[in-house]
Amino acid sequence: MSRVISFSNYKGGVGKTTSVVNTAHILVLQGYKVLVVDLDPQGNSTLTLSRSNPFEHEYSVGNLLADRDLATEKCLVHTPYNVDLIPANLNTYSLVAGLPANSAKRIFGLKNRLAELAETGRKHDYILVDCPPQIEGALITNAIAASDYYILPIEGESVYALQGVGHLMQAMEAIREDSNSGIRLLGALITMFDGRTTAGKTVREAIEQYFQDLLFKSVVRRNTAINKANLSNRCVCDMEPRSAGCLDYMAFAREMVARLDQMQKH
Ligand SMILES: Nc1ncnc2c1ncn2[C@@H]1O[C@H](COP(=O)(O)OP(=O)(O)OP(=O)(O)O)[C@@H](O)[C@H]1O
Ligand SMILES: [Mg+2]
Repeated sequence: MSRVISFSNYKGGVGKTTSVVNTAHILVLQGYKVLVVDLDPQGNSTLTLSRSNPFEHEYSVGNLLADRDLATEKCLVHTPYNVDLIPANLNTYSLVAGLPANSAKRIFGLKNRLAELAETGRKHDYILVDCPPQIEGALITNAIAASDYYILPIEGESVYALQGVGHLMQAMEAIREDSNSGIRLLGALITMFDGRTTAGKTVREAIEQYFQDLLFKSVVRRNTAINKANLSNRCVCDMEPRSAGCLDYMAFAREMVARLDQMQKH
């Protein structure tokens, strides 16, 4: 059974894409079959995972949502990292904007497409969805309708990190109800943490208080190897396997899998 997990936060630049691509890569190294759905028209995870310009792919997730006759398999890109990818590019915006309001496609398109994919026998152990930095709209609605869980990456050093989190979770809840989704928060993940600064420590304490058990114990430290890897369109464990960035994402991937296994039991 696939587990569909959205990485979502309406704030930009909090580490959604970095978390998706590196977690996906690590899960593949551990022997899992992984699909990444890039739902962000910026196409950042498409660029890193496929190592090619997002516009070079014939079809994007936008085509998949807009065109029922397009086979999901045709949209799948096999990446050098052995992660399967449904890519996005800037065309995704207009394709999704053109979906009729309140249509099933606007809500359940991704969910239906992933179900079709599973029926073809192509099974993924994990499907990670890279969400755009938005709080609502057709892309987020599709992500929520299709997902079993969401992970909230949260910037560990920003004093504004928690601002709006309550709103975000309320918005997720409203869309969950409207789309009849069973999505649940799997946990919040602190990214870009710097324990040497007072801001870092204070923000971490506030985040711990807010999320309590739902905060992942693994924390991703601010690490230049991650930035370098992103700049070279590579995964950090491929580029610098001994870096703090790689070790932190390995610890997070382990904890994520363990938490999913535990959630599944209840
Ligand atoms: N742990 C880290 N250490 C250092 N730099 C990081 C770390 N995590 C992310 N970054 C950098 O922060 C920037 C934003 O990261 P990323 O693109 O993953 O965020 P995002 O939430 O996906 O952004 P957007 O909302 O635009 O999609 C990137 O330049 C990335 O290289
Ligand atoms: Mg992103």
